[in-house]
Amino acid sequence: MQMLHPPAVLLIMVVFISHLTFLTAVTVKYPHEMITKTEGLLLSLKCTVEYKTKDCDIQTTWWYKNSSEQFPIMDPNRYLIRVNETERAEHRLRNIFLTISSLKLQDSGSYQCDATCLNSGTQAKGHFVHLNVTGLS
Ligand SMILES: *[C@@H]1O[C@H](CO)[C@@H](O)[C@H](O)[C@H]1NC(C)=O
Ligand SMILES: *[C@@H]1O[C@H](CO)[C@@H](O)[C@H](O)[C@H]1NC(C)=O
Ligand SMILES: *[C@@H]1O[C@H](CO)[C@@H](O)[C@H](O)[C@H]1NC(C)=O
Repeated sequence: MQMLHPPAVLLIMVVFISHLTFLTAVTVKYPHEMITKTEGLLLSLKCTVEYKTKDCDIQTTWWYKNSSEQFPIMDPNRYLIRVNETERAEHRLRNIFLTISSLKLQDSGSYQCDATCLNSGTQAKGHFVHLNVTGLS
């Protein structure tokens, strides 16, 4: 038993430290949602990323995915993306707002926001937000 003790403590410490590093470097926050909306309506999704300014040059992306396609959302003709940031001690909060001004049936699918620290490669992903766009009739 004496021999088992130190490695166990070490393991707990390593798990604790890596968990802590992950938490403080970057986290992605927004609710797990299932949204149903009629076509033609406006949709706005908000993703909040908290990151440590010192350790993280952040890159954030909203992704779209359905059964046949997956792509990072960038097309300015279809999507409006706005970003703002607030400082909070050593952390920054970045909001990434994704807006689709007039929903089409083809916008149905799953949306996910992720964040990467470009210097360390640490990545954090949010939940999928499932969107079901229904027809007018
Ligand atoms: C970020 O933008 C949103 C939407 O325009 C606004 O409601 C919010 O107050 C802004 N936050 C900051 C910190 O500027
Ligand atoms: C997947 O999404 C693309 C882009 O919005 C759309 O053109 C396509 O019809 C969708 N496919 C399915 C099976 O929903
Ligand atoms: C989308 O919503 C419609 C109407 O509520 C429903 O009939 C359909 O099954 C839903 N589709 C998905 C993929 O959830």
